Amino acid sequence: MLDILNNNLIREGKEPVVFDHDCREGICGMCSLYINGRAHAPDEDITTWQLHARKFKDGTTITVELWRLAAFPVMKDLVVNRNAFDQMLQAGGFISVKTGGVPDANAIPIAKDDAEESMDVSACIGCGACVATCKNGSAMLFIAARVSALAKLPQGKFEAAKRVKAMIVKMDELGFGSCTNTQAYQAEYHNCARQSQIVWRYWYTANALPLRGQPEPQAKEVRLKHQ
Ligand code: SF4
Ligand code: FES
Repeated sequence: MLDILNNNLIREGKEPVVFDHDCREGICGMCSLYINGRAHAPDEDITTWQLHARKFKDGTTITVELWRLAAFPVMKDLVVNRNAFDQMLQAGGFISVKTGGVPDANAIPIAKDDAEESMDVSACIGCGACVATCKNGSAMLFIAARVSALAKLPQGKFEAAKRVKAMIVKMDELGFGSCTNTQAYQAEYHNCARQSQIVWRYWYTANALPLRGQPEPQAKEVRLKHQ
């Protein structure tokens, strides 16, 4: 619909509306819009660009807004700058150990459950919907996905605590809010593009609260929605 809008604007000699996208199939995390008051879309488990016009009745007025966050400054029209995510990754979201050449896939034994969990949380595409939805503008879910994915693997375990601390310090510095652990994200919004709402619990029990000097909550059973 935005393409049609822009085609019409261009035909009329007007400036088109600037918006973000790339893959248009829920893989890259580029699309970043509120549609009718819901991050991405008023539908489950899809990104903005997977929302079809047929979901709406003919003649319906659709409200399209951008992510509104201090940490994501507006660039133009519907585009915000999500470079803050990159900065948090640069601060610690990586493994710094030198591994030499690429080893055979089976050279480092990893338990199947660990590999599966790491893979599940790696599904985060960095779209920022969780931050835009969070009433505190917290990036905890994004960080949780990264630290959990790496900490589950033998190569990433060594730097787990250091990684969490570095990313949280950067998150605070960049103007994201703190998580108040109310699960508002899940209550209001079940639309994490990659179903990684699993990870925030994971991250809390594993790393975050002890670092902030808060009591560690009881670990809960964690299940992905599709299981
Ligand atoms: S956790 Fe989900 S909503 Fe948040 S950035 Fe990753 S894919 Fe997007
Ligand atoms: S355009 Fe790639 S996920 Fe939306």
